[in-house]
Parts: sequence; structure tokens; C-alpha cells
Amino acid sequence: MAWGRILTRVAGAGVLAAGALSAQAPRPQPDTGGFVITDPLVLGKCVRCHAKDSTGHLGRLSYLRKTPEGWEASVRRMASLSGVKLEPAEARAIVKYFANRQGLAPAEVKLGRFEMERRADDFRYTADAVTERTCRACHSIGRVLLQRRTRNEWELLVATHRGYYPNSDFQAFRRAGPSSPDSAPAPHPMDQAINHLARAFPLQTPEWTAWSATMRPAPLEGSWLLSGYEVGRGALVGRLTVSKVAGTDDEFTTRAVYRFASGGAPVMREGKAVVYTGHQWRGRSSSTPSVADSAWREVLSVEPGWQEMSGRWYRGGYDEFGIDITARRIGGGAAVAQVVPSALKRGGRDVEVTVFGANLPRSTSTSAIDFGPGITVSRVVRTTGDEIAVRVNVDSAAPIGRRDLFVGGASLKDAVVTYDKADRIRVAPQSNMARVGGVRFPKQFARFEALGFADGPDGKPETADDLPLGVVPVSWSLEEYGVTYKDDDVRYVGQIDQKGFFTPALDGPNDARAGHRNNIGDVYAVASYQPPGSGARPLKGRALLVVTVPLYMRWEPARTAP
Ligand code: HEC
Ligand code: HEC
Repeated sequence: MAWGRILTRVAGAGVLAAGALSAQAPRPQPDTGGFVITDPLVLGKCVRCHAKDSTGHLGRLSYLRKTPEGWEASVRRMASLSGVKLEPAEARAIVKYFANRQGLAPAEVKLGRFEMERRADDFRYTADAVTERTCRACHSIGRVLLQRRTRNEWELLVATHRGYYPNSDFQAFRRAGPSSPDSAPAPHPMDQAINHLARAFPLQTPEWTAWSATMRPAPLEGSWLLSGYEVGRGALVGRLTVSKVAGTDDEFTTRAVYRFASGGAPVMREGKAVVYTGHQWRGRSSSTPSVADSAWREVLSVEPGWQEMSGRWYRGGYDEFGIDITARRIGGGAAVAQVVPSALKRGGRDVEVTVFGANLPRSTSTSAIDFGPGITVSRVVRTTGDEIAVRVNVDSAAPIGRRDLFVGGASLKDAVVTYDKADRIRVAPQSNMARVGGVRFPKQFARFEALGFADGPDGKPETADDLPLGVVPVSWSLEEYGVTYKDDDVRYVGQIDQKGFFTPALDGPNDARAGHRNNIGDVYAVASYQPPGSGARPLKGRALLVVTVPLYMRWEPARTAP
């Protein structure tokens, strides 16, 4: 379909912005409480269609709040469908203006955080079932939860969908079939959704009023203690150095140096970030020696008070490779980030344990490192300020459970657990998705790991006192998930390696498969663990893996904001 026709449809559906396409008369805005727009660049580029009224409000633009990604998506659509000409620097400045003046407060992004961080999440929006069904038929409901609008704007958004994507009526928006003649017509799902959204996500909220009143650029310069976790690679620790870009107060350059606790050379990443709305970190970073570690995106939320930020670094054709990141500001005192290994078996002798952190005491005695009763430090192996490696003995009668660590005036809650034996393993994530690819579309890979658990003091599985033992070494295989009789998915969907890394097969019809079917299907990723000690029973765990088709249609024009 040509864009011209789409625009005609849009005009027909009556969703045009005030004054859009010259012939339209400015549309009055019934809702009050919109935002006055003063930015000369926005006024210069947008009022041609988004007419300005006598109070300084612009048609449509004054009545929305969104994340930087939300604003970026609109600006991209203005460029692609409405022919708005913008230099990249102008587009960035406009996104920043709106994200700062009409953004979301920290409390308002919590629910949709998985969407900003591009996490595969089986989140369900339980506050309203009709909205959930209607508005996640094509894209994640997260996209909806990250916007605030007047009722009129929620209506126009739905009208825009119907104009651009007429199928949305049949797919989700309208009730199917005629209503029975003897009863009043039931409302269409889209009308129910609009009612709910207008109430649940209005333009003006106490959260935004409070946040915007004192919002200021986040002073993030300095050194941060970095800790992270990547499924399949484990924990990482390091340091993040943040410097301000000259002449700005919300743009930064970054340098992260970290290593995985499981070993390997240190990784150095350099990047850039913009912090929108005083709390939304959006960055990109690259590390030179490794291509796989290049061009990561960074989405972090800065906690009020500027002492901590957390979120996800990610990459991949479907953003599927990610590291969960926490950064804590390094002050004058000692700080502990992580202890590796974090599970210590009763009766263990001369076990090397490394405490990672910042400003850790360089000269320290064995008694100054306190793991609690039953764990004695026999020797300090190494101290560098960022880490202390020690050897410990674990009493065979040491109390089982979680314990805090104290060292050099710093502490870490639940730093280690002591346990007797691994009682079971669990494959994480419990359900996963991959997409065939490699011919016309990228592959979506999937990673698994096997986590050990001890039943804890009560000796019962799946209770609150269960003890996490971390990643255990297992052997991996795929097994058929018997939903379709004799479909042999396990032969076609792809391969899992001994690190739990699943590579899906090629996209497109497979001549070797009955019916020339695509290489899609459902399987189990199965982990098998042999505990140490003769005669110990092997432990097994499994997770569901759905291998599906590529995303042929993304339903989205944009990625993370610049
Ligand atoms: C040539 C006319 C034209 C210009 C210029 C224009 N727009 Fe639009 N805008 C539209 C039309 C038509 C719509 C309604 C259809 C749509 O949303 O795509 C719209 C809708 C919007 C929306 C609402 C989308 C939603 O539902 O969230 C935003 C935001 C927006 N424009 C931003 C801008 C910004 C920012 C500028 C200036 C950089 C701009 N527009 C300039 C025509 C224009
Ligand atoms: C038929 C598929 C479909 C359904 C159903 C659907 N959407 Fe969308 N939605 C899209 C597409 C495609 C886009 C991207 C439009 C663009 O920016 O080019 C989108 C974009 C959006 C955006 C971002 C637009 C912007 O400019 O800020 C929001 C918010 C949104 N949808 C909300 C909803 C809500 C609310 C519902 C339920 C009432 C819904 N969607 C149902 C297809 C759908």
C-alpha cells in the first residue's frame, strides 16, 4: 500500500493532528492540563501541522507523555509518513526536549521496565483483562504502559491504529460478530480499553507533578562499582567510570572495565550515554577486541539520590543477549559487590573464595574477614583493593543457611550460603524462545544455565528457606516435547552445546521434513548433573524451549533512543 493511501485513510478516520495536511481546521482540545511548548526548534518544525493555540499549547503534542523511545518512535513516523525534514541532531534535540518536559517519573516506568530493557518477559497486565488482550495482540503491552495521555489522546491513538492498520479492527479492536438483537450491544474491546487507559494512565499524575517540579540533570560523574550477571557466563564485577561531555549536563562518556568471576581476561568497554528525564540512562558501548561484545545498548534506571543505577546491557538480532547490571557509586569507604563462589559446602577444606568490591583493605588479617560461625579464614592469598582472595575451611557442623559478610567496615547481605548437598537442579530460564533464521532473517539464540539448590534447614524442596548454590556443571541435551504426534521436532529445530547455548536451525521450508515444514517446534532443554561422590544419583532438570518463526513484521519503527 502506498503511503499516500495510508494518509488518506488516516484523514478518513479523522485522526489528523490539528491542522495537519493544511486543509484541516485546528481541532479543539477538550482536555485541559496540557503542557505549554516553548522550544523554538519544536515550534519551527511542528506547528505547521500541530497548530499552536493562544495559550501556547500545540495540537496533540501538548497532551502526551512518553519515554525517550516513545518520542523517538513518533518523530521517526513524522519523518517517514508525514514528510517532516529533520537533521539527525535536530531529531535528537526534539526527542530530548519532549522526554525531559513530558516524560515519565521513576515510579511511572516501573511497570513497563521490561519493555525499556528489551527483556523477553511473560508479564501479564492484570489490572484490566480486556485492555491486556486488546493491546498486546501485535506488540508488547509494555509499549502501552509507558505512555500517559488525556482521554482524547488515547482515543486518537486507537483511531491512528485503525487508520494505518485497518486489520486491527478484526484482530483485536472490535467485538466479533453481530450483537444479539434482543440485548443492548456490548461495548467494543477498544472502547473498554480506552476507558481503562484514560483512567489508569492519565496525562497528569501526582508522580509526574512531584518529579518534574524538582527534576534536574543527574550528576553521575565519577566511579561506580559494577556488578552484573549474564545467563550462561555468570557474575561479572568491575568499575564504571563516568565523565561528563563538555558543554552538556546530561551526556556522558563511559569506560567500564570488568571481568567474569569465572575467569578470563578483563573486558574494557567504552561508550556514550544520555540521561533523559533525570533518571533514564540510554547508552551504547563497544569493546574492541571482541566483535561479539561490540555495539551493546544500555538501558539503566538511575535511583533517586544518584547512588545507584540498574538495568540491562543487551545486543542481538532480537536483543536476546543481555547482562543484568547494577552500578553503585564508589565513595570513600570500602564496598563489597560479590563473593565467588557464593555457596560453601560443609566440611570444605582450603577453599579459595574471592571477595570483589572497591576500597577493600589492602592489608588485612584472617580474623578481619568475617563469614560468621563455622567458616574460618586460614590464609589471605591476595589483596588488591578491588578484591581479596582468601582460603577458608568450613566446619562440618557449620549452621546451614545464608550469611552476611563483614570486611573493612563494609558488609554484604546474604553474601554466601553454607550447605550440605545439592538436592536438585533447576534449568533457567524455565521457558525460553528462539527463532529460526540465518537465510532471510536473523536467528534468535537462546541460553540456559543449570542452578543447584539445597532444600535448606527444613529439608523440604521449594520452600522459602531453599538455598541457591549457583551454577552447577551439567551436560545438555534436547528432548522431544510431545505436543504433536511424531513431528520429530528435536531433529530439526537446532542444536544445544555443552554450555547450554542453543543455536536454532535455518529459516524457510525444509525439503527434508514432511510437508516441507519450517524448522520450528517445541522441545525441552535438559540438564543432567552428576554430584561428586561415588554412587550419588544424577540430578536432572529441564525447561521448555519454543523454536518459532522469525518476526516477519516488527510492529515497531524504532529501537532505543539515541
Ligand atoms: C506535515 C504534517 C506534520 C508535521 C510537520 C508534524 N506532524 Fe506530527 N503528526 C502528523 C499527523 C498526520 C499525525 C497523526 C497521525 C500519526 O500519529 O502518525 C501526527 C501525530 C503526531 C504525534 C502523536 C502520535 C501519537 O499518537 O503518539 C506526535 C507525538 C507527533 N505527531 C510529533 C510531531 C513532532 C515532534 C513534530 C515536529 C518535529 C511533528 N509531529 C510534525 C503530522 C505532522
Ligand atoms: C493490529 C496490531 C496492533 C494492535 C492490536 C495494537 N497495536 Fe499499538 N501499534 C501497532 C503498530 C504497528 C505500532 C507502530 C506504529 C508506528 O510507530 O509506526 C503501534 C504503536 C503503538 C504505540 C506507540 C505509538 C506512538 O506514537 O507513541 C502505542 C502507545 C500503542 N501502539 C498502543 C496500543 C494500544 C493502547 C492498543 C490497544 C488499544 C494497541 N496499541 C493495539 C500495532 C498494534
